[in-house]
Amino acid sequence: MAIFSSSTQQVPETAAVPRHVAIIMDGNGRWAKKRLLPRVAGHVKGVELVREAVRACLERGIGFLTLFAFSSENWRRPQEEVTLLMQLFVRALEQEVEKLGRNGVRLRVIGELSRFGSQLQELIRRAEEQTAGNSRLVLTIAANYGGRWDIMQAINRLAQSAPEKLGAWSEADLEPFLAMNFAPEPDLFIRTGGEERISNFLLWQLAYTEFYFTPTLWPDFDTGEFDKAIASYQKRERRFGRTSEQLTEIIPDA
Ligand code: IPE
Ligand code: IPE
Ligand code: MG
Repeated sequence: MAIFSSSTQQVPETAAVPRHVAIIMDGNGRWAKKRLLPRVAGHVKGVELVREAVRACLERGIGFLTLFAFSSENWRRPQEEVTLLMQLFVRALEQEVEKLGRNGVRLRVIGELSRFGSQLQELIRRAEEQTAGNSRLVLTIAANYGGRWDIMQAINRLAQSAPEKLGAWSEADLEPFLAMNFAPEPDLFIRTGGEERISNFLLWQLAYTEFYFTPTLWPDFDTGEFDKAIASYQKRERRFGRTSEQLTEIIPDA
């Protein structure tokens, strides 16, 4: 059973502060290049901005923050950069988890983790376990994640669990098997770095999410920039298929 309602099955409740923000943190390499630094310097700086984004969510009462850290296609990068990204991930887990725990943050990692080294897999497992009792903010890191991978792994697991219903599966049957089954669908999607594409991020879950694209590179995406995205979100009219008139209709007293 899904804990949260699906935007295509029923109109979800919305609030001024988004409940779930999902971010493609893009532009680290270009940030470094502009400063004549190696690309990895951009990734190092990027980790600092992750801390800032987490703090901003805690202060603003946002319950879910989901960050795209490494896509299923990022293995195509030069081996050296992939290795450095993995090292940064390991270091961040070693250094940050305790502090996350103290701040009431629950850490989750989604993606095909079996492709990572055993040390990293073990660190992920421990970090999730250590923070499992927290609920103030759920911080989800998408690592070796791809939206198509997610949908396929869910279909394959559903096929194993309910073969008798083959040919008659519903959205509601699939949803419990998706990687983000523990969270409401994102209200706000942010992509930094100027590209306006999804790059195989949360394909299923973004069905009715509001999109915000900014040319600001991720290492420059500070709290002020974060608040601009929230302000933009607050101006949107989320209709979920209905007309604008339906949203402003005054329901007469019975
Ligand atoms: C995003 O920054 C971080 C990862 C994909 C890990 P990029 O490394 O894609 O930076 P640009 O897009 O080359 O500037
Ligand atoms: C998307 O950024 C993935 C992450 C930020 C982790 P990319 O930089 O890999 O995306 P493309 O290749 O420009 O679409
Ligand atoms: Mg990029």
